[in-house]
Amino acid sequence: MITLAQIGCGYWGPNLLRNFTALPGAHVKYVVEASEDRRRYVRENYPRTKPTADLAAVLADPAVQAVLVATPARTHFDLALRALQAGKHTFVEKPLAMSVAEVDALAAEATRRGLTLMAGHTFLYNPAVLALKALVDSGELGRIYYLYTQRLNLGVVRSDVNALWNLAPHDVSICNFLLGTAPLAVTAHGTAYLQPGIEDVVFANLEYPGQIHASIHVSWLDPNKTRKVTLVGSRKMVVYDDVADDKLTVYDKGIDSVPPAPVAGPLPFDQPGAHRLVYRSGEIHLPKIPATEPLAEEARDFLAAIAERRPPRADAASARPVVATLQAATLSLKENSRRVPLAEIVPAPAA
Ligand SMILES: NC(=O)c1ccc[n+]([C@@H]2O[C@H](COP(=O)([O-])OP(=O)(O)OC[C@H]3O[C@@H](n4cnc5c(N)ncnc54)[C@H](O)[C@@H]3O)[C@@H](O)[C@H]2O)c1
Repeated sequence: MITLAQIGCGYWGPNLLRNFTALPGAHVKYVVEASEDRRRYVRENYPRTKPTADLAAVLADPAVQAVLVATPARTHFDLALRALQAGKHTFVEKPLAMSVAEVDALAAEATRRGLTLMAGHTFLYNPAVLALKALVDSGELGRIYYLYTQRLNLGVVRSDVNALWNLAPHDVSICNFLLGTAPLAVTAHGTAYLQPGIEDVVFANLEYPGQIHASIHVSWLDPNKTRKVTLVGSRKMVVYDDVADDKLTVYDKGIDSVPPAPVAGPLPFDQPGAHRLVYRSGEIHLPKIPATEPLAEEARDFLAAIAERRPPRADAASARPVVATLQAATLSLKENSRRVPLAEIVPAPAA
């Protein structure tokens, strides 16, 4: 049995609490909440969990082995550091922190104390994303040309972070996971329509190695709830629509560059034999996606990583390039959409 404490139970926290409470072998002993209203929610719905506002007392309880941080993004670093310093394995909602320096400080603390540190990158546990990753890795899609993601909605408007830090951690983690690497450079455009200095709409372009281009569009100001990834390969194209019944649609579509048909005899000098572009439009395939809840898988991985003393899938090493990309995009937004190489944010280690 592992005993946990959760910090924060606002909009998203109840999902964590429900999933961890449902896991055999886990007991959420406390929820630390600043709001009396949210403490009442816990009291009324989780009789085996004690709501409290006293974080110091919870961190001082030796029975608590692990802490879940589900508070606003800017509080993550301080709370996670306190939890690690108190000797607790720590799960932090996305983004893990607000800078690479903060991520490194948390990772160093966790490593020094032999503790598990995990980021809440839910989509790394999403069965549709895993199926898409398997398609990319199998080579079935051919060479990956580009992908674009759309995470749009009317609200929920935040005031602590912009739409980039609120929504794009998901998209960056998905792109990095699918492509197996981090971007080389980022360019971002964004506008603050509702609150000064807090962009509600952001378009970010990520350049990956091999001329793979990813475009991320996040917004709190959109008429429709859209959660989509479109990935275009040289052989097939895929749309992952998280709000549709059929999550993945694989299109056997493409445009092939075909060499000219061989001509009998010597090639005439005035016809250098140009390649032709041939359109291909074949079957549409809807792979069956298992109906597992990503958060349940995520919760299981956190507990298994602790028990097996191995890194979880969403470990600090995978969260670091996500934060670096968001930092680069933030710099680009600030500097009139300048192209920001990731090396500016994460200098290459000295040779
Ligand atoms: N994985 C996902 O899909 C997903 C979805 C939504 C939000 N999130 C993440 O979850 C986190 C929380 O987001 P939210 O939408 O629930 O925010 P929220 O503002 O609705 O809730 C935060 C809660 O934390 C409490 N809180 C804040 N500081 C505290 C402190 N120091 N001690 C105790 N309680 C404190 C607040 O009272 C509030 O109830 C954010 O990091 C967000 O990025 C993740």
